[in-house]
Amino acid sequence: MGNIYVAHLVVVVVVFCFLPCLCQGDSDDATTSDVYVVTLRHAPVSHYYGGLRREVNGFKDAAAAPGRTQFNKPRRYGNITKTDKRYGSYISRVHDSLLKKVLNGEKYLKLYSYHYLINGFAVLVTQQQAEKLSRSSEVSNVVLDFSVRTATTHTPQFLGLPQGAWFQDGGFETAGEGVVIGFVDTGIDPTHPSFDDNKYEKPYPVPAHFSGICEVTRDFPSGSCNRKLVGARHFAASAITRGIFNSTQDYASPFDGDGHGTHTASVAAGNHGIPVIVAGHHFGNASGMAPRSHIAVYKALYKSFGGFAADVVAAIDQAAQDGVDIISLSITPNRRPPGVATFFNPIDMALLSAVKQGIFVVQAAGNTGPSPTSMFSFSPWIYTVGAASHDRVYSNSIFLGNNVTIPGVGLAPGTDESKLYKLIHAHHALSNDTTVADDMYVGECQDAYKFNKSLIKGNLLMCSYSIRFVLGLSTIKRASETAKNLSAAGVVFYMDPFVIGFQLNPVPMKMPGIIIASTNDSKVLTQYYNSSLEIDAVSKKIVKFGAVATICGGLKPNYSNVAPKVMYYSARGPDPEDSLPHEADILKPNLLAPGNFIWAAWSSVGTDSVEFLGENFALMSGTSMAAPHVAGLAALIRQKFPNFSPAAIGSALSTTASLYDKSGGPIMAQRSYASPDQNQPPATPFDMGSGFVNASGALNPGLVFDSGYDDYMSFLCGINGSAPVVLNYTGQNCALYNLTVYGPDLNLPSITISKLNQSRIVQRTVQNIAQNESYSVGWTAPNGVSVKVSPTHFCIGSGERQVLSVLLNATLSSSVASFGRIGLFGNQGHVVNIPLSVMVKISSNTTTS
Ligand SMILES: *[C@@H]1O[C@H](CO)[C@@H](O)[C@H](O)[C@H]1NC(C)=O
Ligand SMILES: *[C@@H]1O[C@H](CO)[C@@H](O)[C@H](O)[C@H]1NC(C)=O
Ligand SMILES: *[C@@H]1O[C@H](CO)[C@@H](O)[C@H](O)[C@H]1NC(C)=O
Ligand SMILES: *[C@@H]1O[C@H](CO)[C@@H](O)[C@H](O)[C@H]1NC(C)=O
Ligand SMILES: *[C@@H]1O[C@H](CO)[C@@H](O)[C@H](O)[C@H]1NC(C)=O
Ligand SMILES: *[C@@H]1O[C@H](CO)[C@@H](O)[C@H](O)[C@H]1NC(C)=O
Ligand SMILES: *[C@@H]1O[C@H](CO)[C@@H](O)[C@H](O)[C@H]1NC(C)=O
Ligand SMILES: *[C@@H]1O[C@H](CO)[C@@H](O)[C@H](O)[C@H]1NC(C)=O
Ligand SMILES: *[C@@H]1O[C@H](CO)[C@@H](O)[C@H](O)[C@H]1NC(C)=O
Ligand SMILES: *[C@@H]1O[C@H](CO)[C@@H](O)[C@H](O)[C@H]1NC(C)=O
Ligand SMILES: *[C@@H]1O[C@H](CO)[C@@H](O)[C@H](O)[C@H]1NC(C)=O
Ligand SMILES: *[C@@H]1O[C@H](CO)[C@@H](O)[C@H](O)[C@H]1NC(C)=O
Repeated sequence: MGNIYVAHLVVVVVVFCFLPCLCQGDSDDATTSDVYVVTLRHAPVSHYYGGLRREVNGFKDAAAAPGRTQFNKPRRYGNITKTDKRYGSYISRVHDSLLKKVLNGEKYLKLYSYHYLINGFAVLVTQQQAEKLSRSSEVSNVVLDFSVRTATTHTPQFLGLPQGAWFQDGGFETAGEGVVIGFVDTGIDPTHPSFDDNKYEKPYPVPAHFSGICEVTRDFPSGSCNRKLVGARHFAASAITRGIFNSTQDYASPFDGDGHGTHTASVAAGNHGIPVIVAGHHFGNASGMAPRSHIAVYKALYKSFGGFAADVVAAIDQAAQDGVDIISLSITPNRRPPGVATFFNPIDMALLSAVKQGIFVVQAAGNTGPSPTSMFSFSPWIYTVGAASHDRVYSNSIFLGNNVTIPGVGLAPGTDESKLYKLIHAHHALSNDTTVADDMYVGECQDAYKFNKSLIKGNLLMCSYSIRFVLGLSTIKRASETAKNLSAAGVVFYMDPFVIGFQLNPVPMKMPGIIIASTNDSKVLTQYYNSSLEIDAVSKKIVKFGAVATICGGLKPNYSNVAPKVMYYSARGPDPEDSLPHEADILKPNLLAPGNFIWAAWSSVGTDSVEFLGENFALMSGTSMAAPHVAGLAALIRQKFPNFSPAAIGSALSTTASLYDKSGGPIMAQRSYASPDQNQPPATPFDMGSGFVNASGALNPGLVFDSGYDDYMSFLCGINGSAPVVLNYTGQNCALYNLTVYGPDLNLPSITISKLNQSRIVQRTVQNIAQNESYSVGWTAPNGVSVKVSPTHFCIGSGERQVLSVLLNATLSSSVASFGRIGLFGNQGHVVNIPLSVMVKISSNTTTS
């Protein structure tokens, strides 16, 4: 009891993660073509027309004093004007004539014109042609396209979150109304009840500020979209030119052939009260975090190969142009972008333009944990989410005749617990014409005809779970069908002893069953079984199966107190600033959200997990599942505070995050994948960012830290040697920006310093979005650093600002990262948390050893 068996197969993850890299064109051969993303000097539509937008304010801000609080929120609630679109097609023609001019008479293929967030295009050219393009005076930047991947663990994972019960604030009937969330993912299954728009009696209009469309194809027929699913497109040009797009498997439409995109969309904004029925069992009802929000799908990832930046940028550009309020990305690049800084890559730069437009951008941290600097989401304008466990666990157990109880995993009923059943190993129940020598995998119980029914009937069939299950070559579903065909009372899986260092996951089973996830526990079972056999000394035949057991069911959830905790696969800070990597002065991840064992909608043909094939719901794990939780909550914040900037939304989520698990102790962090539940230290900000998402706190943050596009530009310009790259990506000259704004100076709700040389003063400005309140300031200093915050007490009126000055002074020279925290405690109950992280410290005190 109390053990949570986490399943994850490292080998498989590595195979899946790096497969797309192999497909990537890295060829030195100048005659082979590759996809390049080309940026031009001239400004894109969003910059050109950004200042001209009308504000159409359909919302009333309930909490803030009207008219007083000002944020860096651009005016983007206007109509997407015809002018924008005309300008877009004008830009597209400019791109064509530029290509014609520069590559006069040569062969090339333009895949996309980007015109909204970036003025540029994706084009299939040779390296020589790419060089020609980069020499053109109109061209500012030429980058080789790169591959991206979804951030799930790709293993059938098993336990649950029957509904988003931790979200309690406000009624489901209106939660998220008027907000459109854009998903750049593997598409969607529009037939799923989670996306039905007839669930609610109240009117459910498509927000006026959204102007997206739905593609109509055979896979995605007219009528697929509705007032819930308001937009759906797909972007595959880069993949298609590489010849790896398989239209049978990958669907040349917004339809989700994978399952991942359907899952993430329903986590954020799926309907409330949709029964989760898998393998005939009802696991409760599912609900998105913002069940009244609208979904716009921009498919740019595909089952068989992942995706490419050129397609992802096209998807982001379209989403911004359509007027989405939030973009959710459960994808990360496959490698650190090369160059001056990780922030300068086409995806992050397109997202910077999106943030400039007022769009809140959420990204999965990546599943590359648990080592330091394993983070794959980089930029301060992006809100990065790590994965934590949830408190609900389904655990079952098997009680053996020798009075030993072994815990297991499995969403399956138990046997009659008052009875003990005979255990029969698959190898000992073969039919006459089957031998282990002929069929070495017969122990995996994949074919009932290999077994002697009269031996198994009414007993428990023991099968071995090997790596072949995780590879999809054998399935739990077939094994339990075998047991059923043989009229077994139940099926027991033990870990194949060769599967060392891996932990496995169970799957839903219709019949009584259990999977013993630990190899040590599996040994206990097989030893008991073998020692109970009676074997005829002469014939060497088994004369009696002596082992008996009963399975205690795992359909009812238990509640664990050691939740949330940081999952081992969740990518960790510090945030790499470049590919060496040097560390950035930016805290990553920003927040934790539930990402492990998440029940959500599944595509009817979703193939991402063999064990959920044909099911309506699936249990998935990864930072992919954590990001849409935050996207959904951001929709609730946007609904309540429509004038919040993206930074203000992020601040509300961060400053209110919880630091404690259910038992009241600090949130712990798994730090190894071989035995994740052993030696878990308390999580640091590099494991969990500000902490675990607190839904009701985030809707009532009290104080808010704001920053905007110009601040991010100053930050980028402050990076050594960045001016030409900034010019290349944004067309803007760093000379116009404040060049002394460094990472620690950005007005973030955290302070991160990679190198503290003696002392440093950092300033923060907070804005009060609640009623008048008086705050006192407390802090704990990182080891080796003294901290002084002033003022230590302040009164702040509604809508007013307050500057806080933080003096950090290194008292010890050390290169071991240390952590502290500043807390602002209001007399009206608001608590604002600011994590402090200091890496290298250089003290002026030379007398230290
Ligand atoms: C900026 O673009 C110019 C022209 O394409 C190119 O020569 C230069 O290398 C680029 N600079 C950087 C830092 O990428
Ligand atoms: C947006 O503009 C179009 C075309 O001018 C118009 O039909 C539509 O009603 C406008 N929508 C809003 C919300 O103003
Ligand atoms: C495309 O996928 C289908 C279904 O998985 C497969 O049968 C076919 O061989 C694939 N085609 C190519 C060219 O890979
Ligand atoms: C689940 O939803 C069904 C119908 O949608 C409803 O009848 C049932 O009461 C719900 N169950 C719970 C526990 O909310
Ligand atoms: C198991 O426990 C029961 C009751 O505690 C006892 O009667 C029985 O002898 C035990 N059996 C074994 C094999 O230890
Ligand atoms: C199954 O096992 C029983 C008992 O050992 C035996 O009598 C019977 O012939 C076997 N049947 C097959 C098909 O092997
Ligand atoms: C299976 O083998 C057993 C013993 O070897 C024999 O008695 C039985 O008749 C065989 N059954 C079949 C169906 O061949
Ligand atoms: C179970 O029996 C059905 C019907 O006879 C058969 O189609 C199926 O293949 C069997 N399953 C297994 C795993 O042997
Ligand atoms: C499994 O057993 C071995 C040897 O008995 C022991 O060293 C190891 O720590 C155990 N592993 C776990 C996860 O309990
Ligand atoms: C530039 O930024 C720094 C740090 O935030 C600030 O101290 C300074 O006053 C700013 N300078 C200007 C000209 O805004
Ligand atoms: C930092 O601390 C040292 C002693 O540890 C002291 O001499 C120095 O004045 C302090 N610096 C500041 C800016 O307070
Ligand atoms: C310098 O460090 C030594 C040893 O840690 C300590 O005893 C001494 O008080 C420090 N001096 C100052 C000025 O902080």
